Amino acid sequence: MAIRNIRVEGDPILNKKSREVTEMTDRNRELIEDMLDTMYDANGVGLAAPQVGVLKRIVVIDVTEDGDSPIVLINPEIIEKDGTQTGAEGCLSVPGKSGTVTRANHVKVRALNEDMQPFELEGTELLARAIQHELDHLEGVLYTSKVEGELTSTEKEEE
Ligand code: NI
Repeated sequence: MAIRNIRVEGDPILNKKSREVTEMTDRNRELIEDMLDTMYDANGVGLAAPQVGVLKRIVVIDVTEDGDSPIVLINPEIIEKDGTQTGAEGCLSVPGKSGTVTRANHVKVRALNEDMQPFELEGTELLARAIQHELDHLEGVLYTSKVEGELTSTEKEEE
């Protein structure tokens, strides 16, 4: 178990496209465990591998309050999306900020699990938002490029 350094906006790795994972190795297993530890440690609801400096198509998500339902998506692809939701979004790589982003309200994603077995996952609202946000990271896209209006500071709330 290890907490990795989270890269912040301005680090060029966050704007690069990640590569597909072709096999589950000890190194990838360790990366996934560390990503989960890092996400929970930072009180985030999702984290993508490029945020810890690794350009692999892996994301972890947990939108539950208790943080007891980790989701691991490897080589994820959105295969269905519908509806819209407009709301506040933040990112561990853009600390202390939040902004309004419109996303699909429902998505269905196809991915591989940690045993490299395919599965599908459906989500609405916060889970759908987290899936879309994290998949954007794999394309080198930060939510700040999709914000409507100004980014606002959340620093006071965090204190
Ligand atoms: Ni993010």
